[in-house]
Amino acid sequence: MRLANKVAIVTGGASGIGRATALKMAREGAQVVVADLNEAGGNETAALVQAAGGTAIFARTNVAEYVEVAATVELAVQHFGSLDVMFNNAGIGLFKPLLEHEPEDFDRVVKVNQYGVYYGILAAGRKMRDLQTHGVIINTASVFALLASPGVVSYHAAKAAVKMLTQVAALELAPFGIRVVAVAPGTVDTPIIQGYKDAGFDKVMARRQMRGQLLNAEQIANVVAFLASDEADAINGSTVMVDDGYAGFK
Ligand SMILES: NC(=O)c1ccc[n+]([C@@H]2O[C@H](COP(=O)([O-])OP(=O)(O)OC[C@H]3O[C@@H](n4cnc5c(N)ncnc54)[C@H](O)[C@@H]3O)[C@@H](O)[C@H]2O)c1
Repeated sequence: MRLANKVAIVTGGASGIGRATALKMAREGAQVVVADLNEAGGNETAALVQAAGGTAIFARTNVAEYVEVAATVELAVQHFGSLDVMFNNAGIGLFKPLLEHEPEDFDRVVKVNQYGVYYGILAAGRKMRDLQTHGVIINTASVFALLASPGVVSYHAAKAAVKMLTQVAALELAPFGIRVVAVAPGTVDTPIIQGYKDAGFDKVMARRQMRGQLLNAEQIANVVAFLASDEADAINGSTVMVDDGYAGFK
């Protein structure tokens, strides 16, 4: 119960890494606000947490809108009395070669994957400061924050920004006792990669991990829960690779 008496918001909590993290954090004792655009999936995650004996509510949230993220932060505090952990994890992918990437495509991806994280840092950081909570903000980057690959330029740009946002936020929020870290997953078997699987890229994607297998969402959730806990107190400003070696070889 490493997160006993903690209140956590998990964005992108309706699916994949977010759902696994909501379940893991709840098992570790946290009260969880599942935040997502997807109402059916978000409610299902909250129900799964409750069925496992945990505590969770769903809050419909578009992370691409600051007012919605701030409202969800407010809801967490009103409902559970505090905010200790903010997991800025919601994200979207878009495969389109650079010269076919329209400005609106770029805007759409950056708005969710980069602004969504910035809004989460801003809303949670302000609330934790005001409540004098020594909280933790965790952001989902990607190995694509560090490595180039063709066809996903807006995703790379946004994830690289998440890495630096994490460092700057850690520096600026340190005086308030707030930690800010990121995780950089390798390729994780969640709905976001379904298009690649449908196109027959399973084996290519699996080979990018050193042990030749796609990661699963629970493996990422375990690291996120650790980073949220006091055991990770010395980790700050870092983007932690959770990639089975993906970024370490070619
Ligand atoms: N799966 C991978 O291989 C992989 C690798 C590295 C990083 N990531 C990152 O992990 C995070 C989680 O992705 P996942 O793999 O669990 O995919 P997923 O598609 O299963 O989950 C993403 C969730 O984000 C939600 N979402 C999308 N746009 C939103 C918005 N505007 N507001 C609120 N919620 C929104 C979706 O509804 C969905 O529930 C993303 O940031 C993704 O970029 C995934």
